[in-house]
Amino acid sequence: MEAFSAAEIIAAKRDHHSLTDPQIDWVVDAYTRGAVADEQMSALLMAILLNGMENREISRWTDAMINSGERMNWSALSRPTVDKHSTGGVGDKITLPLAPLVAACGAAIPQLSGRGLGHTGGTLDKLESIPGWRASLSNAEMLKVLQDCGAVICAAGAGLAPADKKLYALRDVTATVEAIPLIASSIMSKKIAEGTSALVLDVKTGGGAFMSDPEKAKELAHVMVGLGKRAGVKTVALVTAMDVPLGLTAGNALEVRESVEVLAGGGPSDIIELTVLLAQEMLELVGIKDADPAAALKNGKAMDVWRHMISAQGGDPDAKLPVAKENTVVTADRDGTILSMDAMKVGMAAWRLGAGRSRQGESVQAGAGIEIHAKPGESIEAGSPLYTLHTDTPAAFARALESLENSVTIGAVPAGGIDRLPLVIERIVD
Ligand code: URA
Repeated sequence: MEAFSAAEIIAAKRDHHSLTDPQIDWVVDAYTRGAVADEQMSALLMAILLNGMENREISRWTDAMINSGERMNWSALSRPTVDKHSTGGVGDKITLPLAPLVAACGAAIPQLSGRGLGHTGGTLDKLESIPGWRASLSNAEMLKVLQDCGAVICAAGAGLAPADKKLYALRDVTATVEAIPLIASSIMSKKIAEGTSALVLDVKTGGGAFMSDPEKAKELAHVMVGLGKRAGVKTVALVTAMDVPLGLTAGNALEVRESVEVLAGGGPSDIIELTVLLAQEMLELVGIKDADPAAALKNGKAMDVWRHMISAQGGDPDAKLPVAKENTVVTADRDGTILSMDAMKVGMAAWRLGAGRSRQGESVQAGAGIEIHAKPGESIEAGSPLYTLHTDTPAAFARALESLENSVTIGAVPAGGIDRLPLVIERIVD
């Protein structure tokens, strides 16, 4: 005999009532074990999207998702643990240089990552372009890599927040991904269950982010910081720009190559700036005050950790990265300054070239994606390369080129300057 009926809980939320703690505990648990049907949970998710949840409900929903699975424990480590989560954007490869950098500065990074879905790439897809690298590790292997290297980036096991796995797949097909209570509880349940003691959230906003409205992104950041703190995780959020792609590449192996350039002391300035900024936030949260992350990127210490971490997971840090079979160059159609570059259009094009997937379980092309030759603020001449498109399936070029139409504006800089979001829009601590 079940404690509640799903229909009564759906009706309560439909009629704008708050759900009680026992109702939330039951419905999340009952859905995970199959006692609440997909169609019932779909209706409840839509009622939550339309009518919202108060902070107590979001916090309880998050706890119920955490309690659906295991909670990891890193008390065997001598270093403090800290992690970073990005809500995702085009060319966002920051985790790749950041995890080894923060480890080189003295913290431990237990980073459980995901695969890409839609126009934003996934960290695991990127790292899997390195020959031999393995995303799936047992808990004991994770601990060993963390102890030996200071950082581990791997797939979350099936035991971590299984309620979220079911709910996320359902939200994806019921147009309920966008609800702030559901996004916040989904992200934070996994991060809290992961067992990190501190967390920096990079909440993206702008045309290439899934929260394009900065006010919504700030609201999401506040809710997630509140959830982290209530669970005893020291949490800070930066709301950052995703109007323009990050760096000069979007696509798996292309982004690994760019990350290695940053670890070698070079690379694009926006990637270096955001990586160092996030590293400073992470180190501050765990009380490491005497580290200099900018120096650790330049002097090779972060690169040493990267090489060690990649090898520890079966990868060959010296192996040649995969290159797509075909490429084509898009050139500028006029002289002038690049005034804007639409991150969403670039992300969609990279996805259409084969860098991303449209369904869970699909494979991705390691070499597919886009190289960007000039960014907003730079001047360009008619006929000069703007993008190089890479794919193993040349039939994909036509659709990728379609999504790149009108992706840049080129002209004279207006009197007020170029209209761009600042890299960091807001820092949120409570
Ligand atoms: N990432 C997640 O893990 N969950 C969401 O709901 C959205 C982004």
